[in-house]
Amino acid sequence: MSSMDVVVKGKCYVEGRLYDRCIGVVDGRIAAIGANIDGERVYDFGGKLILPSAVDAHVHMRDPGATHKEDFATGSLAALHGGVTCVMDMPNTDPPTTTVAALREKANIAAAKSYSDFGLFAGVAQGCDPAALSAGVIGFKMYMAGTTGNLHVPSLESIRNELAEVASTGKVLAVHAENEALRGKGAEKSLGDHLRNRPNECETSAIRKLNNLAVPGLKTHVCHVSAKESLRFVSKSKERTFEVTPHHLLLDQDSKLSTYGKVNPPLRNRRDRQALFNALKEDLFTIVASDHAPHTIEEKEEDFDFAPCGMPGVETIVPLMLQLVRDRHISIQTFVRVLCERPAELFGLNKGRLCLYRDADIMIVDLMKSTEIKADRLHSRCAWTPYEGMSGIFPKAVFLRGEIMIEDGAWIGERAGRNVVESQRKPVEAEA
Ligand code: NCD
Ligand code: ZN
Ligand code: ZN
Ligand code: ZN
Repeated sequence: MSSMDVVVKGKCYVEGRLYDRCIGVVDGRIAAIGANIDGERVYDFGGKLILPSAVDAHVHMRDPGATHKEDFATGSLAALHGGVTCVMDMPNTDPPTTTVAALREKANIAAAKSYSDFGLFAGVAQGCDPAALSAGVIGFKMYMAGTTGNLHVPSLESIRNELAEVASTGKVLAVHAENEALRGKGAEKSLGDHLRNRPNECETSAIRKLNNLAVPGLKTHVCHVSAKESLRFVSKSKERTFEVTPHHLLLDQDSKLSTYGKVNPPLRNRRDRQALFNALKEDLFTIVASDHAPHTIEEKEEDFDFAPCGMPGVETIVPLMLQLVRDRHISIQTFVRVLCERPAELFGLNKGRLCLYRDADIMIVDLMKSTEIKADRLHSRCAWTPYEGMSGIFPKAVFLRGEIMIEDGAWIGERAGRNVVESQRKPVEAEA
């Protein structure tokens, strides 16, 4: 066999188990997995874990339109430092990603700036043209209620035609599921008030509606499930998938975060949080994603009512979840499934798994090395984190398509982010 460009050695996670192995890389893809492989550049990590790096299927890079909060460069560098080598960007930017022109503009920006691989969502709005957008997007996004940006649809009935067109593209429809009609509009002074304005039923009824929506072939993916009552409607199938975020698992309205904890759907009660956590352990959720939604400190310091909703998370999602593995709250298998394998599978990416021909997106992990999460060590332009002081396990090294990008907390690579839509697997034809 011809020699490998790159070889990475360590305790490799292959098909659910750990083995002392070498991973050989040719042209950015895994070309061999074996006990002894030679190559031009050999990275020997001894007994450390070699895991697939993560795919974060829900981020807001704010580019274009709000680059004072984040842009593709800062956001994707933050991602790489945290072991995320592929991000999927949401369409609530300015301009919103609902037209082919806006999608092209964003694709050009991201290709010029991104350090990680990326995929782009297009927003579904009345009169949009999913067939025309389809070739450039990793999936579609629909907002059922108001949140950052102004993309929420008046009702599911009003966009039935557009949804039917989304279904015929075969791509996934990610949904922000809250029921606009059940949103309170009272003044807010605290996280408790924010929760009262977006009660559990506000989310649960939206998920129920979505589950009852009969659009043949439509694959719906419910973003950021947060209420314990919603779990009744959570079940995995090819047509319906569900996501949970670290903040809904680890924070609640009693976390002393004030406006920094203001997010949609809201941080709820401890009981909700525990129910979500149990559901994660029971493997009810398809994926975990960050909903990385940075806003500046200045914006978050506004009066409670005016402070924007959302918190950063793309750099802390892997460290926090690895800490849960270390503390034996979740298994390493669950970790790899919900952060690597399934997000890649759901969106048809050639990533998320250490097996032949996949992209060599790899992270090296030392489960004994917890560090304190501190905003001044993170890379998002927003410069704060709701997890300040909590423990996390940051990857020791990160490879993107076989090239080392991060080692010991420093970026040592060359910028190489690519749009993954070009290698997205064609959706399986909908059955007639
Ligand atoms: C997100 C944002 O700021 O873009 N905010 C949030 O509270 N999650 C939008 C969203 O995902 O709802
Ligand atoms: Zn949302
Ligand atoms: Zn979001
Ligand atoms: Zn613990």
